[in-house]
Amino acid sequence: MQIGESQNPQLEKIQSKNKKMELFSPKYLREQINLPRSRWDEDFKKLIEEKEKENQDEKINGITESSDVLLERTFKRYMNGLGLDERALKDKKVLDLGSGDGEFVRLLIERGITSDAYGIDAQLEKDTIENKFEGHFIEGNFEEDLPIKNNDYIVSVGAVSNGIWGDEEVMDIKRIIEKSFDSLKRGGEMRIYPIQEVAYATPLEGLQESIKKWGELLKEISETRGIEYKIEPRDIRVVGRNNDIILESVLIMKKRIMVSKPHTPPPNAEFFFPNPYILTI
Ligand SMILES: C[S@@+](CC[C@H](N)C(=O)[O-])C[C@H]1O[C@@H](n2cnc3c(N)ncnc32)[C@H](O)[C@@H]1O
Repeated sequence: MQIGESQNPQLEKIQSKNKKMELFSPKYLREQINLPRSRWDEDFKKLIEEKEKENQDEKINGITESSDVLLERTFKRYMNGLGLDERALKDKKVLDLGSGDGEFVRLLIERGITSDAYGIDAQLEKDTIENKFEGHFIEGNFEEDLPIKNNDYIVSVGAVSNGIWGDEEVMDIKRIIEKSFDSLKRGGEMRIYPIQEVAYATPLEGLQESIKKWGELLKEISETRGIEYKIEPRDIRVVGRNNDIILESVLIMKKRIMVSKPHTPPPNAEFFFPNPYILTI
C-alpha cells in the first residue's frame, strides 16, 4: 500500500484539507486577502474560521504525528506549495535547494515519479542517507555554482524564501536565481515557495516589508536578466496568538527556450514580460 492510500485518519485529514484548498482559485484568494473582513465572501469567511480554529487547536494540543504522516505532510506541502503534480515531474530532472532531511527527493525517487532528483543542503546528515540515494544529496551552499546542471525544475521550499529578510540570514537572492538559471535547461523552471503576503485584515509590518523587497528584486532581475516570472497564490495560513492571516504564493520563473523578435504581450499574459521579447516554445 502506498503511504498516500493509508486509512490513517491523520493522512485523510491532510488530504481533505488539500482538496478543500483546490476549490479556491489563486485569483479568488488574492482578491479576498486584500479586502477588509466586512467585505469577505461567505466561503472565505468560513475558510478563515476553520484555519483560525486549527491554529488555536495546534497551540493547545501541539502536533504529534507518526513518521508516515510527517513524510506525507512534507510531500504534500512541497507539491501543493510549488503547484506541481506527479505528471509535471514525471521523469524530469529536479533539484531541491535547501532539501533539509531530503523527504521530497526521496519520495520522488521511491514513488517512481523520477529517478533524476537531487537535493543540496548546507547541513547534510550524511550518516542518515541510505545507499540507494547515494549521489542524490550534495552538501553545499546554494548561493554558489550548483553542481547539478541541466535541470528541468529547480525548486526551493522554506529555504530561499526565508532569505529575503531577517537580520543574520539575509541571502543574496538575486545571485541564487542567477546561479540557478545557469543550471536550468532552456524551457526549465525555478519555483520558490512560500512568498508570503499578509492580509489587509491583519497587517504585519515585517511581511509588508518582505513583499516590497520581493517586488524590487523581481523588477531588477527581470530588467537586467530578462527573466519572466509570475507569483501564484497557493495557500492561506493563520498563525500566531493574533491569528495573523498570510497568503502563501509560489514564485515561478521560466528560462526561455529561445529569444525571438520584439513583441508586446497581450494584456492577460500569464507571465510578466519584463522586456519586449516573447517566450518561444
Ligand atoms: C527550514 S529548512 C527547510 C527544509 C525543507 N526544504 C523542507 O521544507 O522541509 C531550510 C533548509 O535550508 C538549508 N539552507 C539554508 N541556507 C542554505 C544555503 N545557503 N545553502 C544550502 N542550504 C541552505 C538549511 O540547512 C535547512 O536545511
